[in-house]
Amino acid sequence: MRHHLLSILALTLAVACSTEQQPQPFSVIPMPNDVTLSEGSFNLAGQDFYADAALDQASHKAIADFWNQLYTVSGKKSVLGTEDLGQKVRFLPNPNLGAEEYALNVNDKGLTVEASAFGGFFYAIQTLKQMLPAEIYGTRKANAAWVLPYVSILDAPRFDYRGIHLDPCRHFWSIEETKRYIDIAATYKLNRLHWHLTEDQGWRMEVKKYPKLTEVGAWRSGTCIGKDFDSNDGIRYGGYYTQDQMREIVAYAAERNITVVPEIDLPGHMVAALAAYPELGCTGGPYEVWTRWGVSEDVLCVGKEETFTFLEDVLTELMDIFPSEYIHIGGDECPKVRWENCPLCQARIKELGLKAHGNISAEQELQCYVTARIQKFLNGHGRKIIGWDEILEGDLAEGATVMSWRGTQGGIEAARRGFDVVMTPNSHLYIDYYQSQERDKEPLQIGGLVTVPKVYSYEPYEGMAPGTEDHILGVQANLWTEYVTSPEFLEYMLLPRLCALSEVQWCNADRKDYTRFDASLDHTFKMLDVMGYTYAKHVRGIIGLPGHEQPARSEEELQKYLEENPIGW
Ligand code: ACM
Ligand code: ZN
Repeated sequence: MRHHLLSILALTLAVACSTEQQPQPFSVIPMPNDVTLSEGSFNLAGQDFYADAALDQASHKAIADFWNQLYTVSGKKSVLGTEDLGQKVRFLPNPNLGAEEYALNVNDKGLTVEASAFGGFFYAIQTLKQMLPAEIYGTRKANAAWVLPYVSILDAPRFDYRGIHLDPCRHFWSIEETKRYIDIAATYKLNRLHWHLTEDQGWRMEVKKYPKLTEVGAWRSGTCIGKDFDSNDGIRYGGYYTQDQMREIVAYAAERNITVVPEIDLPGHMVAALAAYPELGCTGGPYEVWTRWGVSEDVLCVGKEETFTFLEDVLTELMDIFPSEYIHIGGDECPKVRWENCPLCQARIKELGLKAHGNISAEQELQCYVTARIQKFLNGHGRKIIGWDEILEGDLAEGATVMSWRGTQGGIEAARRGFDVVMTPNSHLYIDYYQSQERDKEPLQIGGLVTVPKVYSYEPYEGMAPGTEDHILGVQANLWTEYVTSPEFLEYMLLPRLCALSEVQWCNADRKDYTRFDASLDHTFKMLDVMGYTYAKHVRGIIGLPGHEQPARSEEELQKYLEENPIGW
């Protein structure tokens, strides 16, 4: 550690004292999987670019954006062309590389980037931007050295599915804030946004066939105050996305190699929909869009055919907006008490001949029936389902993908049973949890403790039965927003845990190195400053939102604080 700090210090001094031609220390996150640095550097400012005419539209646009950005910050004009005039900056097709793979070489001939598809070019550009001074992310001319070190990089991700989740239901995030969220996820090479569009506390998706979902279901009469669920601040709260806005997000994300995976959470977490259409519940209501947090006993009545018509209609409009192969159907936290007491749900159980077995109730099998029926519908339209790990309880049809959230056990079991898995264990990847034990210095949050090193330490294959690892499609962190009340707070929760997540998703296990990662965060923090993101500074001993920042306690003071203030969950 000491040795490492000294060498960083030496490098920093070397940069500070040298001419402006020195590249900055290599601090790319996620660390590319194969990097060889060598002596020498190449100045990118004012260099003409060549982008092979054979590249696709999206790649040409990404290259043009980078070229433009370089002009903005360097003030040096250059030409971008598709005719080979021996330019020193070259973007070339290489069909031998994977869809998200790229080769990047900087040497005495200049810079060459090769990829087979848009993803590879986009990620090469993200790497290049992080190799340059942080001002590359700025909007005006900056006095910096636009110099790349000589380097040879061959890079591809460890996992295909690299996700981040966003809950716009408990608190609502504007289209602009959602785009900022996508921007920063793309910077760290994530490729999925799991957009949780429906909840008890608000329905956020415009559905043309069911206008009351947003007229009624998108608005709650108020919000409970802190953790007093029976209180209500009396402030009407809500919002929704029009179909055009959701299409805009899909297109915006696609330009950054991100697929939006939408979620309609069913058959539980449906109170907002029930408030709009009470006939879809077992009791008929009336229901109100929830003003408190937690799990409601009111869920969809699946004894009624109208419920399935409703779901299919909603999913039909959803599929028209979201091209994602995967559609998330939720499935978590669905209490069965209404179904146990509903004549129609009981009649459905009887008609289907569902029986309790082992620790699985007949009502649980009824949820399996719902999952299977929706899966069949979506499969019929060429889509696949993802569901929270509750969908493993009872029968699950082939082809479903399981999102393991209650720790890793669901994912391990799913893979053993032959299902594909996305790992999002709350133990390591619930970034709505606290980032420090010093809760007196933090804004109120849901609970738990997930620090940057904790996220970083996550190894997705741990505990897997040998031979089942290939079922892990990838990894995602989840950001629920019950207590997250502002865009600054949202970014404080996201960053820099997102950076740690990106190395879990991208880096081969032997490339991970927390000390190197931590040192690279200095550059990331400069980037975030230039881009105007709020970020947490726990890794630098500072706790709290901007305006409330305080130094962390010493280890000794912390022990004393914890003795005096024992932390529950
Ligand atoms: C969840 O956190 N209820 C999936
Ligand atoms: Zn019912």
